[in-house]
Amino acid sequence: MFTLRPERPEDGPAIDALLDKSFGPGRFAKTAYRLREGVDCIDALSWVAEEDGALRGTIRYWPVKIGGTPGLMLGPVAVLPEHRGRGIAVALMNRTLDEAKALGHRAVILVGDEPYYARVGFARLPAGRMTMPGPVDYARLLGRDLSEGGLAELSGAITRAL
Ligand SMILES: CC(C)(COP(=O)(O)OP(=O)(O)OC[C@H]1O[C@@H](n2cnc3c(N)ncnc32)[C@H](O)[C@@H]1OP(=O)(O)O)[C@@H](O)C(=O)NCCC(=O)NCCS
Repeated sequence: MFTLRPERPEDGPAIDALLDKSFGPGRFAKTAYRLREGVDCIDALSWVAEEDGALRGTIRYWPVKIGGTPGLMLGPVAVLPEHRGRGIAVALMNRTLDEAKALGHRAVILVGDEPYYARVGFARLPAGRMTMPGPVDYARLLGRDLSEGGLAELSGAITRAL
């Protein structure tokens, strides 16, 4: 059975390999990466799933600004192809979303498939509520509260947290 733990510096190469395998080298061209450039992920929310001493899955979060207000963005999340469908990603998300809540974050956004992320409480944002700094399918811009009303407080352009 896999276990979850915070990412360590020495996990870096294995995480990069996992992300390359899951998203391909073109991943850096995604609009979400523009929000990550030059910004460090949030250490306390960057976790991995491990089993038999090997990495099975990764999750990271980035700080962003939404209409100038600090916000939280989930992603990337990825699981090794041969270990998908075992609940690893849902476990990583549930654990770290609890952690984010405990740290006082009131809402979280992400870009991803709504049918999947609905499993952990995400829903499409109202049209025009937030804008991304590049091309994105707005049907994939999702959010959820971590504290009641947290998401509704946020609107406007999503920009880098610098
Ligand atoms: C998406 C991903 C992280 C899911 O990891 P996982 O550990 O297999 O997920 P879980 O085991 O927790 O959940 C699997 C379930 O979600 C479903 N699912 C996976 N991707 C889905 C999607 N895009 N849309 C709808 N359902 C999806 C699976 O069919 C499975 O359903 P089941 O429980 O009814 O069998 C993994 O498939 C992956 O790494 N994909 C490539 C990278 C990626 O696309 N990441 C998400 C970026 S937005």
